[in-house]
Amino acid sequence: MPSEIGMIWAEAAGGVIGASGTMPWHVPEDQAHFKAVTSGSPVIMGRKTWESLPERFRPLPGRTNIVITRDAATQGELESSGAVPASSLEVAVELAQERAEGADRVWIMGGGAVYAEAVQKGLAQLAEVTRFDLEVSGDTHAPVLDSERWELVTADPQQDWHRSESGVGYRFETYRRTR
Ligand SMILES: NC(=O)c1ccc[n+]([C@@H]2O[C@H](COP(=O)([O-])OP(=O)(O)OC[C@H]3O[C@@H](n4cnc5c(N)ncnc54)[C@H](OP(=O)(O)O)[C@@H]3O)[C@@H](O)[C@H]2O)c1
Repeated sequence: MPSEIGMIWAEAAGGVIGASGTMPWHVPEDQAHFKAVTSGSPVIMGRKTWESLPERFRPLPGRTNIVITRDAATQGELESSGAVPASSLEVAVELAQERAEGADRVWIMGGGAVYAEAVQKGLAQLAEVTRFDLEVSGDTHAPVLDSERWELVTADPQQDWHRSESGVGYRFETYRRTR
């Protein structure tokens, strides 16, 4: 049976997820959440998100890292760096399913271009969103989850806010696609 396809991201006010090729915050609790959710599952990312990872942390350990690029030379470089290159999102999803090895889920982990395509094509069934109570400027945004297609399924979402050791308020939300 194919694994479920999830998307995972963290967003600040106004849907900001990135600025100048990086994430404009440091929230260790969200990093721990990301690791806990994705460990053991293949992860799919765009080339720019791959490049945003510090070299010493990539490929992300314990996960097959599938990286999408249209550029043939970059595909070769990715392979040498321990990632699995893919020429399109659909190919990436196929490769992830082949390598899921019984994992319940494969995860699309960004960035903006890849989330947008996944939502537009209806490829994902699930979205794990970390919402920050933070105003920050950025140039990359989360996809809009249409409330006619996506349902918030987290229990008691209004109450469940936490305070990071970094001072940022945050909460975890799970959305499921209904149609
Ligand atoms: N807050 C979060 O949770 C989160 C998560 C992830 C990333 N981010 C942030 O998001 C930003 C990066 O996002 P982004 O939208 O600029 O870039 P991206 O989605 O990471 O990567 C875009 C690149 O991926 C490749 N690509 C995308 N769609 C493709 C397709 N259908 N077929 C083949 N290749 C495809 C292309 O690479 P080539 O140009 O090589 O062809 C494209 O230039 C960074 O600021 C990062 O820190 C935030």
